[in-house]
Amino acid sequence: MCGIIGYAGHRPAVPLVVEGLGRLEYRGYDSAGVAFIRENALEVVKAQGKLVCLEEKLAQIPNTVATCAIGHTRWATHGVPAERNAHPHCSNNKQIAIVHNGIIENFQELKEGLLSKGHTFTSETDTEVLVNLIAEGRKQCATLQEAFAWALRQAHGAYAVALMSPEEPGVLYAARMAAPLILGSGVGENYVASDIPAFLPYTRNVVFLDDGEVVRLTANSWEVLDLETLKPCQKQCEAIQWDMQAAQKGGYRHFMLKEIFEQPRVIRDCLTGRLTPDRKGVLLPELETLPVPERLHIVACGTSYHAGLWGRHLLESWAQIPVSVEIASEFRYREALILNERDMVMVISQSGETADTLAALRIAQQRNVPVLGLCNVVGSSIARDASQVIYTQAGPEISVASTKAMCSQMVMLALIALAWATRKDCFASAQRAEILQTLSSLPDILEQHLPAMHKQAQAIAPRYAKARSFFYLGRGHCFPLALEGALKLKELSYIHAEGYASGEMKHGPIALIDSDFPTFALALNDALLPKVQSNIVEVQARQGQVVALTDGPLSIPVDDVWQIPCVPGALAAFAALPALQLFSYEMADYLGKDVDQPRNLAKSVTVE
Ligand code: G6P
Repeated sequence: MCGIIGYAGHRPAVPLVVEGLGRLEYRGYDSAGVAFIRENALEVVKAQGKLVCLEEKLAQIPNTVATCAIGHTRWATHGVPAERNAHPHCSNNKQIAIVHNGIIENFQELKEGLLSKGHTFTSETDTEVLVNLIAEGRKQCATLQEAFAWALRQAHGAYAVALMSPEEPGVLYAARMAAPLILGSGVGENYVASDIPAFLPYTRNVVFLDDGEVVRLTANSWEVLDLETLKPCQKQCEAIQWDMQAAQKGGYRHFMLKEIFEQPRVIRDCLTGRLTPDRKGVLLPELETLPVPERLHIVACGTSYHAGLWGRHLLESWAQIPVSVEIASEFRYREALILNERDMVMVISQSGETADTLAALRIAQQRNVPVLGLCNVVGSSIARDASQVIYTQAGPEISVASTKAMCSQMVMLALIALAWATRKDCFASAQRAEILQTLSSLPDILEQHLPAMHKQAQAIAPRYAKARSFFYLGRGHCFPLALEGALKLKELSYIHAEGYASGEMKHGPIALIDSDFPTFALALNDALLPKVQSNIVEVQARQGQVVALTDGPLSIPVDDVWQIPCVPGALAAFAALPALQLFSYEMADYLGKDVDQPRNLAKSVTVE
C-alpha cells in the first residue's frame, strides 16, 4: 500500500527519488520521506501530507550531492498518518535507514524482544521494529548483508524493503516477500521500486524480483541473492515495452478523465490479435492448456469484483458454466470452501498485487485447482503465479479509482465466455459472430458518444451535488453496474451510495427514500425494463428523485433521463459504464474533491 524507491547511480539522488515517488503516489499519499548520506551520516527528511509537503521541506535544507538515496510514500497501516510514523525509519544507533511496504505481522513479539535488549521506539510502526532488528543482527553478523537477511528471516508477513547505511555508502540492499519489488537496471545507475513507472524515464530494463530474494545494488552492479542461503540467484533482465507518455495526463484535467476517454482504445487493444481473421471466432491461446472448468470461482476485490459479477452473466448464459463470484478477503477464510480439480479459480486484478486476491490464488494452488489470472500489470505477482494469465491490455492506470481497467476486464470476460462456449459447442456460431461484431463496433460508438456523455454528466451532476446519499439500482447484468456506480460515487465524492438489485428495494432499503435521497436507475432496454420501471415508480411514490440511464424509450417520466447509445444485449454495459464513471467524476470535481487521489484510498492494496 506504500511506494518505495531506492537509487544508486551518478545523478543527484534526492530529486530523482522524489520524482520517482511522484509516480508512486497512487500507492499511498499520507506522508513521504527520503534518506541519503551526508558527511558519513544518515540524513532523513520526512513530512506528513502529500509529496509536495516533503518537497517544501527539502527546499529548506542545503543542496545535497548524494548519488544514493531511498524514498517512501505512505498509506498508513500501523500508526496514524503523522511525521513520526512516516518512513524512512532509522535504527537507534542511526546506522541503518529503511523504507518498507507491507506488514510485519509478528512485529509486536519482535518489539518486545528488542525492548528487553534496550532498543527504544519513537513511532508505532512495524518498520521501526524491523530496522532495529537489523541493527541488533549487525551486532552478531559479520556483514550488513547478513544482518539484513538474519532479521528478515524472523519477520513474518509481507514486505518490500530497501536499506541504506553509512557503513556501506553507495550500496543499497532490498528484499521482497509478498509485496511488489522491481529492479531497474541502467547504465551507471540502478534502481529498486514498488512499480516500474518510478524509474521508467531512466531505464526500461527490469528484473522482477521474487519472494525470498535479496538484492544488493551499487551504481555499477546488482546481484540477487537467496534470502535463506545468500547464494546468487539467476535472474533475467526484461525490456519494458510501454513508455511514460502512456502514463501521462495527455491534456486532460485528471488521469481519471483521460482513462475514461481511453476506453475505446482499450477495447480495440483488447481485441487486437484476439479474433480469427474472419472476426467470427476468438483466439485465446492462453486457455488452450487449461480444461474448460465444470465450475468457475471468480475471486477479486473492488472494481475487479464488479467486473467478475458482470462476467458471470455471460459465462453462465453463453458458456453454461456455473459461476460463483466472491470477494477475495471472504474467499480466503471460508472454511467450507469446496474446490476440486475440475473447478477453476479465476482471479481478476488490475494491479496483480492485491494481497487478498493473491492469497486466494495460493489457496487454489494448494488444492491443485488451476488458476486463471486476469491482470493488467505485466509481470505482477498474480500474473506470474497463476497457472495461466490473460493480460487485459488497459495500459497503465494511474487514477486511484479504476475505470478503463474494468472495461478491459469485461472485454476479456466476454471473449473467455465465447471461447469456452465454442469449446463446449453450446452456442450457435452465428450468435457468436454477431456478438464479436458488436464488440468490434464498440470503440467507434464510444468515441462518437463520449464527448456528449461527458457534457450530460456535467449538466446533471450539479443538480444532485447536495445529496448526502444515493441509491444505484439495476437488475440482471445491470446490477453489477449499479454496484460499480455506487462505489465510484462514494470513493470519489464521499457521498454515501449503495448499489442494490432493484427487486430487493422493497425488502428494506426503500424505507430510506425521501425527497433528499435520489436514485440513479439503470433502465436499459432489455427484457427486465418493465420491472425496473415499476421499481422506479415505487421510488417516485416516496418522493424520491430519479436519474434514469436508458438506451431506449422510457415509458415513465423521471427527473433526469440520460440517453446513452443503444448496444444490444449484455454488451450494453460498455455504454453504461462510462456514463456512471463520468457522473461520479463530475460530482467529485464539482464538489472540489481530489479526483485522482481520494482520501484514505490507495490504488494497490498490498496488505490485508
Ligand atoms: C483498490 C483500488 C480499486 C481496485 C481494488 C482492486 O481498492 O482503489 O480501484 O478496484 O483495489 O484492485 P486490483 O488491482 O486487484 O484490481
